[in-house]
Amino acid sequence: MSCDHKSVPPCLLPAITRRRFLKQTAITSAAVATLPACEFAESFVQGQAFEFDINSATFDALQTVGQAVAFDAGEGETALKVILVRVSDDEVAAFDRICPHANLDMDPELAAPLGNEWLQEEQQLKCGWHNSKFDINGDVVPGSPSADGINRYKVEFDPATGVGQCDTSEVV
Ligand code: FES
Repeated sequence: MSCDHKSVPPCLLPAITRRRFLKQTAITSAAVATLPACEFAESFVQGQAFEFDINSATFDALQTVGQAVAFDAGEGETALKVILVRVSDDEVAAFDRICPHANLDMDPELAAPLGNEWLQEEQQLKCGWHNSKFDINGDVVPGSPSADGINRYKVEFDPATGVGQCDTSEVV
């Protein structure tokens, strides 16, 4: 199976460094900005946090446990590509969406050869390009071609309202 590394935008290459930096320096976030419920949908706040509503069209797949949604937090080349996963009735998890193995996108909508997907039973994110897997903490599963894991970001989610916040400055 071949891999087209030349197609990877340069802006995606520092993903591994970012993970290590955040973990090693144990950055804790500044306060997450709070928006009125009617305003969030796809808002990105101060480069750190965004809110989501599973009742909106963008995130409605998250109404189902085991489903995932790709989301770009921010705009243009500075956007942070994340994947949100409804891992249980009460919890939504957020991970980096760029696989550190070859810096390819794990968007479930992309036609990766093996299928990008969340494996609900195993509680693992599968990169369909070359079959790396990452556990619920973002750590790489042994046997994967990736040598590194991915960031998992802090998410607060209220299943009663379907509203949540993801703080991409805080790795958990
Ligand atoms: S890009 Fe190769 S396993 Fe993800």
